[in-house]
Amino acid sequence: MIQRELDELLNRMTQEEKLAQVFQLAACCYEDDFEPDFTGPMREIEVNDTLRKTAGTVIGALEPEEMLKLQKLCASGPNRIPALFMLDVIHGFRTIFPIPLGLACSWDPELMGRTCRIAAKEARASGIHATFAPMVDLVRDSRWGRVMESTGEDPYLNAEFAKAAVKGFQGRGVGEKDSLASCVKHFAAYGAVESGREYNTTDMSRGMLRDVYLDSYRAAVDAGCRLVMTAFNIVERVPATCNKWLLDTVLRKEWGFDGVVITDWNSMNELIAHSVAEDGGEAAQKALEAGVDIDMMSGHYLFDLGRRIEENSSLQPLLDQAVMRILKLKNEMGLFEEPTRGTDPELAGRLILCEEHRATALEAAHKSMVLLKNEKVLPLKAGCKVTIAGTMAGQRNLLGGWSFMGNPEDGISLIEALGSAGADLFIPESDFTDIEEVCRLAEKSEVTVLACGEPVEETAEANSKTCLRLKDRDLALLRALKKQGSKVVLLVLAGRALVLSDAEPLCDAVLQAWFPGTEAGRAIADVLFGAAQPEGKLTISFPREEGQLPLYYNSFRTGRPQLPEKKEEIYVSHYIDCPNEPLYPFGFGLSYTSYAYSDLKLSAKKVHPEETLRVSVKVKNTGERAGREIVQMYLCDPCGSVVRPVKQLRGYTSLELCPGEEKEAVFIITEEDLMFWDNEECRRVEPGRFIVMAGPDSERLMKDEFVYAV
Ligand code: NOJ
Repeated sequence: MIQRELDELLNRMTQEEKLAQVFQLAACCYEDDFEPDFTGPMREIEVNDTLRKTAGTVIGALEPEEMLKLQKLCASGPNRIPALFMLDVIHGFRTIFPIPLGLACSWDPELMGRTCRIAAKEARASGIHATFAPMVDLVRDSRWGRVMESTGEDPYLNAEFAKAAVKGFQGRGVGEKDSLASCVKHFAAYGAVESGREYNTTDMSRGMLRDVYLDSYRAAVDAGCRLVMTAFNIVERVPATCNKWLLDTVLRKEWGFDGVVITDWNSMNELIAHSVAEDGGEAAQKALEAGVDIDMMSGHYLFDLGRRIEENSSLQPLLDQAVMRILKLKNEMGLFEEPTRGTDPELAGRLILCEEHRATALEAAHKSMVLLKNEKVLPLKAGCKVTIAGTMAGQRNLLGGWSFMGNPEDGISLIEALGSAGADLFIPESDFTDIEEVCRLAEKSEVTVLACGEPVEETAEANSKTCLRLKDRDLALLRALKKQGSKVVLLVLAGRALVLSDAEPLCDAVLQAWFPGTEAGRAIADVLFGAAQPEGKLTISFPREEGQLPLYYNSFRTGRPQLPEKKEEIYVSHYIDCPNEPLYPFGFGLSYTSYAYSDLKLSAKKVHPEETLRVSVKVKNTGERAGREIVQMYLCDPCGSVVRPVKQLRGYTSLELCPGEEKEAVFIITEEDLMFWDNEECRRVEPGRFIVMAGPDSERLMKDEFVYAV
């Protein structure tokens, strides 16, 4: 349709149809035996056929054949407006990839893009049009269960992944039959919820918001994402869902976003609990005025907005504008001409879990794993006698949270995989954590693989925790095994950075495997036996104690820093019972080979506006295996008008190196890399000294410096 036709359509729509257009219905409401099970005012909803036909968007999924029927029903409404079907396709549709936090440890946005492309193809053929992804919230606190959905603690890397994910989902454009419209979330700063407690409040300076938290959303918007989801939290004391500064001044005016804004689940109703609206009508009005187009699951647009508009006709153009944005997206996706465009059950059947998709899932799982410790025990030799134990050893579900359409049975279990990788396996008969039996088996074997961590059910939404340590049963087992001198490989399956400080000294190797997805079993066995090499590096700091949280590498300088050479000083910023440093820092990860860094070189000692600086460092593979090393470059502005972080990642690259081979990693620093947001909300560079650092992680760094002069 051309714009004139869309305008005519809008003119033809009744107020009821408009209010239904900005409303979202759950897919289950289309099922014959549907029983409403909603929270908030949606409990009151009376689902009749008119609403089924006119609802603008639908959340959830049914079988592809059902989705076809459903769309035909929606497009048979008075104005034949098709519905938009939305789902949380977070790390795969049916072929499940590692959780985003794991995938991020590949430091490979191209791979992230490929996984999103595959997810889009499978989902679109199955009748889905839009995904509530990527979640690009920056997280500094693993108590928050949703850290598994994020790509970690770094703004630069998060922005790279955000871009790649949006491009992956949307492919050559949302008009294509195999694309999903991408909805970036949770705008903004949901990752900063205090104490890592889900649905909690946030508070931060505008400088922090601009310099650290907004970059990844901006990157997603610049990459063309068609939707933005508001966050549950407040931003500068105003809930994001009715925050005009955020949704209008920043998102629409400054960033030029012309797509659709949707609330998070019931967050419009939560404006009442937040104490910024007296009732549903006021909540709806505030959200509309701020720029929200779709109400997810509160019902206030549908139930209360009409009355509000009758009382205040100046709201009508805002409703019309919201409806138009939704119609435009549907039009861009070609749904008016062909409501069932892209939905193809037969194609879905062929695509889902096809060889290519599985191969990518396996590759992604390999690349997501991070080797945190290895005292010459890994890789295991073929035929090695292995005892398998631990609370996670028998867990069939290693897909990770937010994988509604995934099925753990699509892949082989960890035990089957270890068997097929050539292990001579010793499996406890009674219980995977029975100390006596496990120790007896361990005595007969060369190594024990202790699969531990946290079950899938303890991660993702509404799963904040205060204790991030391993389960008591795993720790008890570990102590017993250590006591009898058995070699132990700790296989950590988790959706967050756990506290491994009790366990670390008791084992010989630690492999952080996250939740690897459909190919979990095979991927873990490949890495343990060396058919694939762990090459990932952490994108989140691992605390020694929960009490250190929030913990992140790019912290502000303090007036009393603790200096490494003066650890005994008392009146400096430190703990009396724990080091300041993490157990494993951001960027850290070992491999089965080793690398030596040398010759950090800058192309100049002084740079001027618009000039670039070339930074290089030599990396040599000093081990006996070929490998891929992720080389990192950080910058620091040591003195300026506002306090700046101790270091900030500003570049990274991967080098493939054969044994003995040496290559140069090259980074180009531009003015953009030196910029920051000042307190007048201006992004600029300040002349003066800058420190450049390069190395294998955020702590082991070579340093040099240059001057930026105007
Ligand atoms: C609530 C979650 O916060 C959000 O991330 C998700 O997309 C919606 N529910 C829809 O499932």
